[in-house]
Amino acid sequence: MYKVHNMIKAYPKTGPGTEKKEPVHSHKQSFYDSSGKSESCVHRNLKSFTFNDLKNATRNFRADSLLGEGGFGCVFKGWIDENTFAPCKPGNGMMVAVKKLKPESFQGHREWLAEVNYLGQLHHENLVRLIGYCSEFDNMLLVYEVMTKGSLENHLFKKGVQLIPWATRMCIAVDVARGLSFLHGLEANVIYRDLKASNILLDSDFNAKLSDFGLARDGPSGDRTHVSTRVIGTMGYAAPEYVASGHLTPKNDVYSFGVVLLELLSGKRATGDENAGGVDETLVEWATPFLSDSRRVLRIMDTRLGGQYSKKGAQTAAALALRCLDVDPKLRPTMNEVLATLELVQAPKDVTNKQRRS
Ligand SMILES: Nc1ncnc2c1ncn2[C@@H]1O[C@H](COP(=O)(O)OP(=O)(O)O)[C@@H](O)[C@H]1O
Ligand SMILES: [Mg+2]
Repeated sequence: MYKVHNMIKAYPKTGPGTEKKEPVHSHKQSFYDSSGKSESCVHRNLKSFTFNDLKNATRNFRADSLLGEGGFGCVFKGWIDENTFAPCKPGNGMMVAVKKLKPESFQGHREWLAEVNYLGQLHHENLVRLIGYCSEFDNMLLVYEVMTKGSLENHLFKKGVQLIPWATRMCIAVDVARGLSFLHGLEANVIYRDLKASNILLDSDFNAKLSDFGLARDGPSGDRTHVSTRVIGTMGYAAPEYVASGHLTPKNDVYSFGVVLLELLSGKRATGDENAGGVDETLVEWATPFLSDSRRVLRIMDTRLGGQYSKKGAQTAAALALRCLDVDPKLRPTMNEVLATLELVQAPKDVTNKQRRS
């Protein structure tokens, strides 16, 4: 098993030997990193940190500064000077998030490189900002801006956290759709491939950004319809045709977006939610019968919202989720269409911003 307990790792039917070698990114710039590995391609805009800098910035990766954990590694809070980027005392300078690769992480180097290549070059308000990296022998680290409210997963599902109101949920959906539209609109047709609540981070105003580009890949170009890959992603979020064939297209992200939208509407997890079929049923399986019945569609809504949402908005969002989750990828909308629909659902910006901050 790879990444988290419910990660999928399998090979396409054609077998592992026929797998196309996955280019990490086509617009990369090469230079020699600190370990002297010439094959590493890292962006010049990024700060190259020494391991010692990051050890000092995080006070030796102290357990009490842990911000989160994924399959790649643990993420710690650290402090660096805004101008020199030198490590500094907590409370001084700028707070950063330092991700440290677990030595046992399967394929971790490739993920590290994908993150450096994509986030080193792509700048957008809905993508988390990568500040720098460290690659010293086996120590592979990444340094990001801190997203103070943490992951959407923590906010939506953990007990005891502040409830995310309806308007904010729709703002988050719009932010994520905007991030994915941006990626799909690039010349390289970038496919994010691992959209899930734990990879969506929230800043202090609940603005959402995509993080974790470890599995991102350039999409098909020319007259190719798909890229063939090993199937890798997260159960409950990955599109069925991708799991079955390994064929990667931007429509796989659209499916995963549909799952995240369902999570925002229902407040239930993609898999293993005891109120949505338990371990035997995914959120999609549980919700689909309601989504396709206009009289019962609002039964999927998060009861914690206490009915405090626009019925029309919820119906539109639910209908959109159903289209994103179509088993036929060709019938799914593009991320641009998704974004346009959600912007209509979203409350006027001034109201939304007030609610976001309340
Ligand atoms: N920039 C950040 N600010 C705050 N928390 C973060 C940040 N980056 C990651 N995290 C936390 O760490 C968790 C794992 O990070 P992620 O980048 O998804 O790692 P992995 O590649 O191991 O899956 C996230 O779900 C989140 O809770
Ligand atoms: Mg992750």
